[in-house]
Amino acid sequence: MIRVALLGAGRIGQVHAKSITANDDCQLVAVADALPQAAQDLAAQIGAEVRSIDEILADDSIQAVLIATSTDTHSDLIERATAAGKAVLCEKPVDLSLDRALAALKAAEGTGQPVMVGFNRRFDPNFAALKAAFDGGEIGKGELLSITSYDPAPPPVSYVKVSGGLFRDMMIHDFDMACWVFGGPPARVTATGSAIVDPEIGAAGDVDTAAVTLQWDDGRIGVIKNSRRAGYGYDQRIELLGSKGLLSAKNVLENTVEKISAEGASAAKPVYFFLERYMRAYEIEWTAFIDALKSGDTMPVTLREGVAALACAEAATKSAQTGETVAITADMLGPA
Ligand SMILES: NC(=O)c1ccc[n+]([C@@H]2O[C@H](COP(=O)([O-])OP(=O)(O)OC[C@H]3O[C@@H](n4cnc5c(N)ncnc54)[C@H](O)[C@@H]3O)[C@@H](O)[C@H]2O)c1
Repeated sequence: MIRVALLGAGRIGQVHAKSITANDDCQLVAVADALPQAAQDLAAQIGAEVRSIDEILADDSIQAVLIATSTDTHSDLIERATAAGKAVLCEKPVDLSLDRALAALKAAEGTGQPVMVGFNRRFDPNFAALKAAFDGGEIGKGELLSITSYDPAPPPVSYVKVSGGLFRDMMIHDFDMACWVFGGPPARVTATGSAIVDPEIGAAGDVDTAAVTLQWDDGRIGVIKNSRRAGYGYDQRIELLGSKGLLSAKNVLENTVEKISAEGASAAKPVYFFLERYMRAYEIEWTAFIDALKSGDTMPVTLREGVAALACAEAATKSAQTGETVAITADMLGPA
């Protein structure tokens, strides 16, 4: 039985608590949060203890921690937890700063402790099936990947201000999907972004609508489109054109009923947001972490891959600001 502690009892921490308690190979023993009430409420719900992060890290019987605190704490906690001999699953993004994330990567790799980054979309059964079909050679060589990712509504501007910006906070998932599908990071990134949904987002220095092209050295192209507002729900689709065919993973709809009448045809809209769409993915993600821990296999999403997605986000942020294409260089991806 793997003993686990959860750091962060907010929105996503509560989701992870359900996955941890649903897994028979582990036990959620402690919860920590800077807000005592948040930690107490969640700990009471799941029958765990409230402890400080220091107490958790000093407890040698705890083998793994799940970091679901705010992004600006991730690198510090990855370093402290791995130095204390814990395996880590850390939420995305690794950090708000690529330099800080690279330092955490170096420190964590130095300890030899396994670290996984929470890119839950890889574990979505639809996207996983697309990847398996592609890896199985079913459409030949990948040539053009298109990722659509629209949120139903923008977050509050207070969140936008501390989020690191759309490319680091939101498109980071899509950068990871692109790197994952094509087996590694692109060579260059070209981005454009606007604040056309909410002018206050623009006033806070961020964008709410963005399009990015990624190019690999052999000519493969990725196109990512993000918007903070899709009035019809959570729009999450992938299309991959290969030399022998096309794979596409469509939206998950509220129901499967289609109506056809003399007026036309209609279907249900996509499910509302990430909690509705990805609940199953979060559970599979946690199982994948525990299984890798038990077997000693490489984590299914490594810290290096988390850094690569952040390198794309940093390049896209710079490209959108300057209008230039930005290269992803080896030094942005971690020590050799
Ligand atoms: N993978 C996903 O789909 C997904 C979805 C949502 C959020 N996230 C990521 O998860 C992280 C948390 O997001 P959230 O939406 O749950 O935020 P949240 O604000 O709801 O929760 C964060 C919690 O961390 C606590 N916290 C902050 N600093 C702390 C510290 N130093 N020590 C202890 N506790 C601390 C806060 O008190 C809060 O309860 C972010 O990095 C975010 O990017 C990922």
